[in-house]
Parts: sequence; structure tokens; C-alpha cells
Amino acid sequence: MSSRFKVQSSKLPFVLVNMAMTADGKIATANRAVSSFGSARDHEHLLELRATADAVMAGARTVDSAPINLGPGPARFRRLRLKNGLAGHNLRVVVSGSGLVNPQAEVFRHRFSPIIVFTTGRASPARLHQLRAVADEVKIFGRHEINFRAALGWLRVEWGVQRLLCEGGGELNNVLFSDGLVDELHLTVCPEIFGGREAPTIAGGNGFHRLAKATLLQIKSFKRIGNEIFAVFTVCRQK
Ligand SMILES: NC(=O)c1ccc[n+]([C@@H]2O[C@H](COP(=O)([O-])OP(=O)(O)OC[C@H]3O[C@@H](n4cnc5c(N)ncnc54)[C@H](OP(=O)(O)O)[C@@H]3O)[C@@H](O)[C@H]2O)c1
Repeated sequence: MSSRFKVQSSKLPFVLVNMAMTADGKIATANRAVSSFGSARDHEHLLELRATADAVMAGARTVDSAPINLGPGPARFRRLRLKNGLAGHNLRVVVSGSGLVNPQAEVFRHRFSPIIVFTTGRASPARLHQLRAVADEVKIFGRHEINFRAALGWLRVEWGVQRLLCEGGGELNNVLFSDGLVDELHLTVCPEIFGGREAPTIAGGNGFHRLAKATLLQIKSFKRIGNEIFAVFTVCRQK
């Protein structure tokens, strides 16, 4: 697959992360019940970005907790994909190191494009069997944690993925940021405050204690549309 959009010249895909967050930096409420709070324009933006990517990826808690299918959306976005030089439907990637992602989740109910599950040696044979029944390929990358550098390299070589869009959640984003695998962050800032110290943010995990470890960003663009801010950041660190 190839497109007219920016791709990585290395052996890894160009990785975009797209998230909507509240003005206090949350991506869901503390009880995770509310995670969809962007405007119709923000949803349109999500589909437009999907229409630039060969594959869309999300973590297990994101696909478990919301009725999302990670697909291209209505026909006009599939036409946009074709115009962009991409396949009509994007590949879908679900990340579940334990293999405990729910095989009944909405994403597995739609067979319009291949679904790949990234997992680890922690997934039991029974879970692997269940996932193989609902996914097109279940790939083990690492014994305990997923080796994303290897996994993304495999996506590029085996599935021709040049642009990969990651749609969270925070746990997955954090690993991609700390492994230096993200190229661009698309952030919609929404006019709400959720509060809640347990509410997830765009990058979860354990964090670190030294500023030197921060992922550095540069503002590429930002604009106000309606009552939201759409910002794009370029990640400074080289892969
Ligand atoms: N506002 C937004 O734009 C937005 C976007 C996306 C999600 N959300 C919300 O954010 C919440 C979910 O975020 P989250 O941070 O809790 O979860 P998440 O990142 O969606 O999923 C975390 C899970 O992904 C797997 N995983 C992630 N990194 C891994 C690694 N390095 N190795 C192996 N497995 C790994 C693990 O699955 P297993 O436990 O199965 O091993 C882990 O428990 C939900 O409420 C969702 O609706 C909001």
C-alpha cells in the first residue's frame, strides 16, 4: 500500500496518535463510563485521519469499553481513502498483552478488513484459540510485554503498513511514546473539565522521574474550530 501522505523512510511505519482530551487533560472519566465527548467535527477529524492511514490500532481497554470498529466509516471516507491512494478499508490492530481482550467486542463483529491482535507469551493457549477465531492473525511479540519496535516493523514488512494511526488509550500511547515510536500527535482539546485523579490521560503507565526522559514535541499546527482546539505536534526525537 502507498499513499501521498508522509511516511517513514526507515523500516517502521510513520506513527500518528490521535486523541481527544478535556481541558484538564483527561481522555475519559475516572470510572471510564464517558470517553466520547468530542464534537461531530472531532469525529469527522478522526475519520479523515483514518483515511490517511493503512492501519488503525487501539489497546484492549479501548476496544473493550466502547462500541468502536476502527473502520473507515461512511462511504465518502472510503472514497477519500481510494483518492489518497489507499485500500478502501484500513487494516485493524488490537493490542492485548494478556490476550484478555473481549472476543465479543464490537471491533471483532465487523469483518470488512483484516484484524491483527498483538499479544505476548502471557496469553494462555485457550485465549489464543478464542482470539484466533475472531481475528485474522494473532501475533506474539515478546514474553511479557509487547516489543513494539519488532511489531511495527513486522506490520510494515508483512502488511505493507506505511502509516499507522494509534487511537489510544493512554496505556498503549505511553509505551509508544517511551519507545520513541510516535512521529505525530493529533490532539483535540475539548471544552470540559472532568477532574478525577484516576481518570486516564493521553499517556498512562508509570511515568518517570527525570525531565530528560520526556518526549519532546514541536507544534506543527493548531486551529480553533467551533469550541475546540485542533493541534498537531511533531515528535522531535528520532527513531
Ligand atoms: N478520548 C479519547 O480520544 C480516547 C481514545 C481512546 C481511548 N479512550 C478511553 O481510554 C480508556 C482506555 O485507556 P487505557 O489507557 O485504560 O487502556 P488502553 O491503552 O486502551 O489498553 C490498555 C491495554 O492494552 C494492552 N497493552 C497496552 N500496552 C501494552 C504493552 N506494552 N504490552 C502488552 N499489552 C499492552 C493491555 O491489554 P491486556 O490487559 O489485555 O493485556 C493493556 O491493559 C477507555 O476509557 C477509553 O474509552 C479515550
